[in-house]
Amino acid sequence: MGLVDANSAGFVHGGTVMKLCDEVAGIAAIKHSRCRVVTAGMDRMTFLEPIHIGELVSFKASVNAVWRTSMEVGVRVEAEEPHSGAVRHTSTAYLTMVALDEEGRPAHVPPLAIAAPDEERRHREAQTRRRNRLAERDEIQRARV
Ligand SMILES: CC(C)(COP(=O)(O)OP(=O)(O)OC[C@H]1O[C@@H](n2cnc3c(N)ncnc32)[C@H](O)[C@@H]1OP(=O)(O)O)[C@@H](O)C(=O)NCCC(=O)NCCS
Repeated sequence: MGLVDANSAGFVHGGTVMKLCDEVAGIAAIKHSRCRVVTAGMDRMTFLEPIHIGELVSFKASVNAVWRTSMEVGVRVEAEEPHSGAVRHTSTAYLTMVALDEEGRPAHVPPLAIAAPDEERRHREAQTRRRNRLAERDEIQRARV
């Protein structure tokens, strides 16, 4: 991360981290669906620790769950201090990406192979986040009627 990524306190802008999370989530979703994708929502973005100028930042994305045309992608952000090699987990993000067909309409996505215990846990937690998001939307809509 360089000077242009940071605020006057020397911390990397949250928006810079969010933009990069969006990009890697898009790549993971394209690789899974082999379709063009759009971001439907950023369901959660957590900033655990600040990132400083000069640190090397890694973004690791995984498709956690797939539904009909949408996918949840989780992104883990890590910052490495290049002299000491110390690595810190600085952010986690969850985004919903929707696959699109040639006409730009939502397209079916292939099923997800879930085998390892970590994959099962991510899948279970993604289902919880989707359930909560839809329940919140329904509750708000009911209250508006
Ligand atoms: C995302 C988008 C394609 C959904 O279109 P739509 O007409 O609502 O289509 P549908 O109702 O069939 O929904 C398609 C999927 O999107 C999901 N979706 C729609 N809005 C969503 C939201 N706000 N958050 C999460 N998922 C959402 C639906 O749950 C559905 O998933 P499923 O098929 O797996 O159940 C459309 O709203 C869009 O193009 N938004 C703009 C995207 C964009 O410009 N992103 C930024 C740049 S990439």
